[in-house]
Amino acid sequence: MNSAEIKSLENKVIMKTYGRYDLALTKGQGCTVWDPEGTAYLDFVAGLAVVSLGHSHSGVAQAVAAQVQTLVHTSNLYYTEPQVRLAQLLTENCFADRVFFCNSGAEANEAAIKLARKYSFDKYGGGRHKILSMDKSFHGRIGTSLAATAQPDKHVGFQPLPAGFAYLPFNDLKALKEAMAEDICAVLIEPIQGEGGVNEASMNYLKGLCQVCRSYDVLVIFDEVQVGMGRTGRLFAHQLYGVEPDIMCLAKALANGLPIGATLATDKVAQAFGPGTHASTFGGTPLVTAAAIVVLETMLAPGFLEHVREVGAYFKDQLNGLKKKHAFIKDVRGQGLILAMQLDFPGGKVVSSLTAKGYLINCIQTNVLRFLPPLIVGKQEVDQLIPVLEETLVEEAAATKKEL
Ligand SMILES: Cc1ncc(COP(=O)(O)O)c(C=O)c1O
Repeated sequence: MNSAEIKSLENKVIMKTYGRYDLALTKGQGCTVWDPEGTAYLDFVAGLAVVSLGHSHSGVAQAVAAQVQTLVHTSNLYYTEPQVRLAQLLTENCFADRVFFCNSGAEANEAAIKLARKYSFDKYGGGRHKILSMDKSFHGRIGTSLAATAQPDKHVGFQPLPAGFAYLPFNDLKALKEAMAEDICAVLIEPIQGEGGVNEASMNYLKGLCQVCRSYDVLVIFDEVQVGMGRTGRLFAHQLYGVEPDIMCLAKALANGLPIGATLATDKVAQAFGPGTHASTFGGTPLVTAAAIVVLETMLAPGFLEHVREVGAYFKDQLNGLKKKHAFIKDVRGQGLILAMQLDFPGGKVVSSLTAKGYLINCIQTNVLRFLPPLIVGKQEVDQLIPVLEETLVEEAAATKKEL
């Protein structure tokens, strides 16, 4: 099918939940993707922080091909080796002792919320069930993960949402201290908010948050669905801060594009999940966990995370260079290869214009351009993007001002 045929069929048969960019894709390799007509695009979106090893990664492809011919799915009635090996790799490299596997970020958060409530219930009895989350957070689009997502516009039309959530301003330790109460069992937070605008928790705030929570035996849940798995130049974003949660949620890049989610916890907390308390038919299949093992082994190999830090710092410098030259750039922020540029005008047309020129980026919160390239991106790809980005920004800033 050509692009026009795909778009026309989609218009008839797909629910309209996505405001798609005007582009169909058929092929990817490394940091490049192609449309059906053969036009190449340099990818600074990576499937929204998912394809971190790059498109068509040969190690992942080989692992998937081998596993698909061996054993794809068993259900969680049985033990499987790839699942336990992946859990071992994850727990050896962070605070956690145990893992629950599911299929997406929202599901990983749903499991974390259930686990926190069950831990509190087992220890303190009923009524201590409330979860605090932060303004502009994003935790998913279903059930309790939607209720935890403190963006009221995303709730409209779906009330009543599950009860037991309250929202606090991000980076405000005083508000957190004042909110502590007997009915709270956990605080759920992204160390760096992704969809909310690439907003970084300050060092003092995240450290203080962990201290306050510990003093009330309130569990700390880090949602690292977007910023985990090497994105910040550390395997997990909280490792930048020198703090540890009780529970952590992963998804996105964990299997480089195969659907997977994971909820990790300390042994003490994980004990609250006994047989029959939680489950997922597809969670942690041999197929996806075999792919995820390759992802983790690749990211843990010497040099991988250093590369993310080095290219990330270079990229951020280049973006800051543009900020110095152009007053319409209000801020540049982020860590590693989750970077953002805040404009004083809406960024939607910048994205479509860049797409037409062969560069994929995305825009969040109306005026924040977000850069989430595959973590294998090099300085040369950054050097290709920057002048085109500058030219496009100047054009769109002028056009926007003319319209006003
Ligand atoms: C921080 C965070 N949590 C949860 C989610 C939801 O993940 P999923 O779309 O896989 O359900 C996302 C998705 O963007 C996310 O960025």
